[in-house]
Amino acid sequence: MKVTYRKFLTARDLAETLASELADRIRSAERNNSPLTLALSGGNTPTLLFSVLADKHLTSVNWHFIHFFWVDERCVPPDDPESNYGMTERLLLGGIDIPRENIHRIWGENDPKAEAARYSEEIMRYTRQRNSLPVFDIVILGMGEDGHTASIFPGNLELLQSENICDMAIHPISGQKRVTLTGKVINNADEIIFLVTGKDKAGIVSEVIGKRVENLKFPAAHIISAEGKTSWLLDEEAGNLLE
Ligand code: 6PG
Repeated sequence: MKVTYRKFLTARDLAETLASELADRIRSAERNNSPLTLALSGGNTPTLLFSVLADKHLTSVNWHFIHFFWVDERCVPPDDPESNYGMTERLLLGGIDIPRENIHRIWGENDPKAEAARYSEEIMRYTRQRNSLPVFDIVILGMGEDGHTASIFPGNLELLQSENICDMAIHPISGQKRVTLTGKVINNADEIIFLVTGKDKAGIVSEVIGKRVENLKFPAAHIISAEGKTSWLLDEEAGNLLE
């Protein structure tokens, strides 16, 4: 259960490095004729990564060799400004040559519980399994200032142990319903990459990375790939309280 931490001078340096590494992974998937399965998070942090991928890697990779999934989705229609899929479509997917069947969005417009079941089946159809759970090649996560990740919020730690692949969650402040991957599925990934930037995240980063065991009240402290790699990619601002 290898955990590494990398600090970058700026969020752009981080996004450019990760975009380049993801492009290498897609090229390797093409050489191996085995498409990559990548689960994306939403929110603000990954927007820079998506823009860099669309601007700098538009033609440098064969996008037929990646399948995009989502870690979580707000229960809104895809054209809603809140939609994680909608944001990714605008910044990345709409500008690249990728078969639509390689894009596995969560139907935010659906009933959340019905969608959690439907999406679980879709994931099982398009991923390999280990320990009877789906295995994503890569899961990209963010972390909120409250230590949530995906849509697993403090006070909802049972989602870390759920036997379901996806479950419904409720944002503790807005009450917004979400569909989210559960903790066991995230930890079953071959590679987990946390992207955390900005000075507002420095405190929670030092709590979760610096004192993980004492801070298991934070969902992100429970996320670590069981059999693969976990890396935290931080900019200087988010990592400035770490020794
Ligand atoms: C979401 C994300 C969520 C996000 C964190 C961090 O649907 O909002 O999946 O888990 O990663 O809330 O969000 P920011 O990147 O906007 O700080």
